[in-house]
Amino acid sequence: MSIDVAAVRSHFPALSQGVAYFDGPGGTQTPTEVADAIAAAMVSGISNHGTVTAAERRAEEAIAAGRTAIADLLGCPADGVVFTRSATQAAYDVSRALSKQWERGDEVVVSRLDHDANVRPWVQAAEAAGATVRWIEFDRETAELTVEHVAAQLSVRTRLVAVTGASNLLGTRPDIPAVAETVHQAPGALLYVDGVHLTPHAPVDVTDLGADFYACSPYKFFGPHHGTVVADPTLWERLHPDKLLPSADTVPERFELGTLPYELLAGTAAAVDFIADLAPGDATDRRQRVLASMRAVEEHEEQLFARLLDGLSAIDGVVLHGSPKRRTPTALFSVTGHTGQQVYEHLAGLDVNAPASSFYAIEASRWIGLGDEGAVRAGLAPYTSADDVERLVAGVAELAGAAR
Ligand SMILES: Cc1ncc(COP(=O)(O)O)c(C=O)c1O
Repeated sequence: MSIDVAAVRSHFPALSQGVAYFDGPGGTQTPTEVADAIAAAMVSGISNHGTVTAAERRAEEAIAAGRTAIADLLGCPADGVVFTRSATQAAYDVSRALSKQWERGDEVVVSRLDHDANVRPWVQAAEAAGATVRWIEFDRETAELTVEHVAAQLSVRTRLVAVTGASNLLGTRPDIPAVAETVHQAPGALLYVDGVHLTPHAPVDVTDLGADFYACSPYKFFGPHHGTVVADPTLWERLHPDKLLPSADTVPERFELGTLPYELLAGTAAAVDFIADLAPGDATDRRQRVLASMRAVEEHEEQLFARLLDGLSAIDGVVLHGSPKRRTPTALFSVTGHTGQQVYEHLAGLDVNAPASSFYAIEASRWIGLGDEGAVRAGLAPYTSADDVERLVAGVAELAGAAR
């Protein structure tokens, strides 16, 4: 089954404004169903969660529905789903809990490809614990990060490897199952996968990936602004975060600080339902419908992305950064004679939203010679149309032509 883009678009009120949104990697637009679910939760008569009043039970139900939805999205147990403020906070929280068990001389491995949310929390936790930080490099030309790049940084002292499922800057999708196999050859090494940019573009199965921890952010896949990190409950049981005395000491609750945003969890459950409905085929249970839909999303985005790359690479003066074989539909490019900011502003004037930045993947941007400014990023989403792509390509061509 394939994606019916016109039907998908009809669910997004924002798309009727005539803007072509290529900034999905920074956060997608929101379908009515998700906004309605958030509003409905807020006015439903909802209290702090508990079991006595109906209002308390509604909060309990929102939490349970949120966990089940993420479990169906990622293929993990619902009681291994932890909700956080953001993916950034998830990495900080997990790094602080894990680093209580690190010793001087232990090694923590981070990558040059990653968003800083999966770098700095580990670097800072390692420094506080006296552990050594080792850096996974990647190919500056192709933007490929291979198993060999990872293996080069592993040792018997490796405690944690943090690597992205997909680069939000260059689109690279490292071979995570192969990375996991290599990481797990080091005794006691855990793998933390940043799935923020992968989850919106591919079917995800955390067990198949071999990730010990997998983080993502619903606002990158039609949901509201919060984060989540999943792990096997038996792994969570081994960790003891700082927490308040009266708050639950159970798993996964002990990792969730303060009152959960019940309405956002209702929105996230609606976002997963929305994904399940995108192109479910004959499947009946939600996990299978999500997988079928995400396979269709991946195929659709691949085809449209090929048109985008063809269009951009045919323009004199356009430089495309990186050419990884397995990638998300995310292009990073510069236009000779113009700063990224100028391209971004020119496109914005045409109602084409494609920002320029390093997008917090600051190590990656510096590593490939783009400094802290980065370049222009155009990312596709399931609601991106062929017309959007043509408008982007035409807008870039207009500017590049004017430069000559
Ligand atoms: C790959 C990647 N990791 C992490 C993050 C941070 O996510 P959050 O805003 O939920 O902290 C982002 C946000 O852009 C991202 O793209």
